[in-house]
Amino acid sequence: MNNQRRPTDILSEDHKEVLAKLSKMGETLASIDKKPDLESLKEYGKFFKRDIWAHFDKEEKALFPEMEKFIPRDQGPIGVMLLEHKDLREANDKFQSALAALLQDVNNAGAKQIIRHEGYTIIDVLQQHIHKEDNILFMMANMHINDAQNKRILEVFAGIDREYGK
Ligand SMILES: [Fe+2]
Repeated sequence: MNNQRRPTDILSEDHKEVLAKLSKMGETLASIDKKPDLESLKEYGKFFKRDIWAHFDKEEKALFPEMEKFIPRDQGPIGVMLLEHKDLREANDKFQSALAALLQDVNNAGAKQIIRHEGYTIIDVLQQHIHKEDNILFMMANMHINDAQNKRILEVFAGIDREYGK
């Protein structure tokens, strides 16, 4: 494992990419009433439809199960992370259907309002979520997870990448 990246390094790299996207998304949401930037909105929609779930799957199906061998799911940060994933999935579902409606009718004011509301929720929840993972959860993982576990996690990651065609 010495010259290989740890699973948490791979996940933290994803986080940087997500944070960069989120920092630009606020501008797109702010201008949605006057001049909706449909191309950018479509791009965010695509990103939230696929890349984020590949990342969540890596945490939920690979990293967290190994961490649960030393931290009980319901009594600590893993349970909190899973609840936040659930909130983000729900916000994304609403965001995606409102985006589909806006693409049908660019003047749909209700759709704009939902996109703005859910979009800001996603930004807010996801920024804080990533911060907690990078600074608390992954530090715990790096302290406790051994090489054999890291190897298993990386194997599951590879399967998830294949599943998502990455
Ligand atoms: Fe994450």
